[in-house]
Parts: sequence; C-alpha cells; structure tokens
Amino acid sequence: MNAPQSAPEVAARSGADDAVVRLRDARLAFGERTLWSGLDLDVAPGEYLAVLGSNGTGKTSFLRVLLGLLPLTSGTVRVNGTRPRAASARVGYVPQQRGFPAHTPLRARDLVAQGVDGHRWGIRLHPRRVHRTVDELLERVGATDYADAPVGVLSGGEQQRLRVAQALAADPTLVLCDEALLSLDLHHQHVVSELVHEQRERSGCAVVFVTHDVNPIIEHVDRILYLANGSFRIGTPDQVLRSDVLSELYGTRVEVLRSNGRILVAGRPDSSHYTDSPEELIL
Ligand SMILES: Nc1ncnc2c1ncn2[C@@H]1O[C@H](COP(=O)(O)OP(=O)(O)O)[C@@H](O)[C@H]1O
Ligand SMILES: [Mg+2]
Repeated sequence: MNAPQSAPEVAARSGADDAVVRLRDARLAFGERTLWSGLDLDVAPGEYLAVLGSNGTGKTSFLRVLLGLLPLTSGTVRVNGTRPRAASARVGYVPQQRGFPAHTPLRARDLVAQGVDGHRWGIRLHPRRVHRTVDELLERVGATDYADAPVGVLSGGEQQRLRVAQALAADPTLVLCDEALLSLDLHHQHVVSELVHEQRERSGCAVVFVTHDVNPIIEHVDRILYLANGSFRIGTPDQVLRSDVLSELYGTRVEVLRSNGRILVAGRPDSSHYTDSPEELIL
C-alpha cells in the first residue's frame, strides 16, 4: 500500500491537464493561524474527494477558495483550468441544510429556477425553457409532488433535495457540498448522497464533499483530504483512515475503529468541539 501524502512530501500527480481542481503549494492562513499549507492537489473529472476534519480546521474555507470567494494566502488554485471566480458558472454548490422560515415567499420550483435562469453562459433563457429545465430537475430529485409548495413548509430533507437540484442546474463540472447531510434523517442522508453520486455517474463531474462524518458517503469516496492540526493527509480511505496515519497527523494517539460497518475516530484531541451531539463524535 502506498503511504498517504503528507504536507512536506506531496508530489502532485503530473500530466493531469484536465484536472477540475488544481492546487499548487496552497496555503491558507488567518493572521498567525495557518489552516493548511503546502497543499498540492489535482482532482480529476469524475473523482469524488471527501474533505474531513473537525470543526475549525478549514473545510468550509477550502470550498470558499474553490468558489473564488476567498483568496489563498499563497500558492495557486485553478478550477476548470482558470481562476475559480471565472469557473463558477459550472460549479454547483450544496450548502448545509438550514430551514427556510415558514413564510418564505418562494415555491420549490422558484428555488431550483434560481440555479437555471441565466446562470449558465451568462445569458437569459426563454421562460418556457427555464420551466422545462426546472421540471426535469425537480423530477430527477423526486420533488415533482411538491414543486409548487412554499419552501418554508417542506421538511429539511425535501428542502435539501431542492438545493441539490439547484446545484445541478448549471450542468456542473464540479459539485461542492458543505456538510450537506447535516441534520437530515438517515433516509434523506442516503437520498441526497445518492443524488450527488448519480450526477457524477451521468455527467462525469468531480465531487468535493466536506463532512465531519464520512460514513454516509464512504462507498462513493475515491480519496480523502483530511485536515487537522494545521496540516493534512491525502489518500484513499484505506490509506488515510488508519490509526497510525491519523495519530501522526494529530500528534497524539487516536484510534480508527470500525464498528457495524461504521468508521469512528476515537481520541481526537479536538473532539470536544462535538460534545453537543453524540452522533458527531463519529467521523
Ligand atoms: N474570513 C475569515 N477571517 C478570519 N478567520 C476566519 C475566516 N474564515 C474562517 N476563519 C476561521 O478559520 C477557521 C476555519 O474555519 P472554517 O473553514 O469555517 O472551518 P470548518 O469548516 O472546518 O469548521 C475557523 O477558526 C474560523 O473562525
Ligand atoms: Mg464548515
């Protein structure tokens, strides 16, 4: 088995000219605090990368860099071969589930239409074309039955299906998910994770999925970027989710346990962030 890549020894894969995401010697710091540095990473078309780590390790910031909302402190980032901001029309983004207020004056189809209307290529589409595309997207995520319902009355799982539909509207080459399964029941965790996976299968888009719990998506993951302690490891799940590898990364003994098919990381020094919810002790 090859060792996972660590910060000083990363040798980025060369020759991948079609990389959807390319980071070179990337560093992100806020003031004195370096979240990660020396990050070299190519994400290939169709690749599924999970970004793991505890609260505050820079997972969301990593996505904000890919969205062009946050500049690197140093190093370079390319998305679809260009600056992230210039590539954003073909990047789908599924945020964490947050309930809409009950009286939000938006129907399910309006939310999806926001992802369609004039987004791609920067031109306005004919309203009939928008309508048809929205109907197709609603059907794809199984939301046709509540297409005309106000979003505020829908369950968290139903709302999250709509956010996926909105993200897929751009026919993305890259789908970014930020804790997109958080606070969903198990059924909807599965539904949403399958929808993202299906899009990858059908279109060959790359997926970067930020999560503190890898279990709901583990079957789809090709590689993991694990952030901790101002550093990182990159590799396949078998290369990274190991007691020796994570103990070295954390600088203290942690255990990767497998129980009932679930993966747990026990003894993380920063796991006190997660005392609110027992479920969140699982990574
Ligand atoms: N714009 C910013 N300015 C200063 N500090 C920030 C900024 N954005 C994030 N941070 C800090 O960087 C750390 C990582 O944040 P974040 O990327 O949200 O972590 P995660 O998503 O892994 O929980 C946090 O300590 C956060 O407070
Ligand atoms: Mg976050």
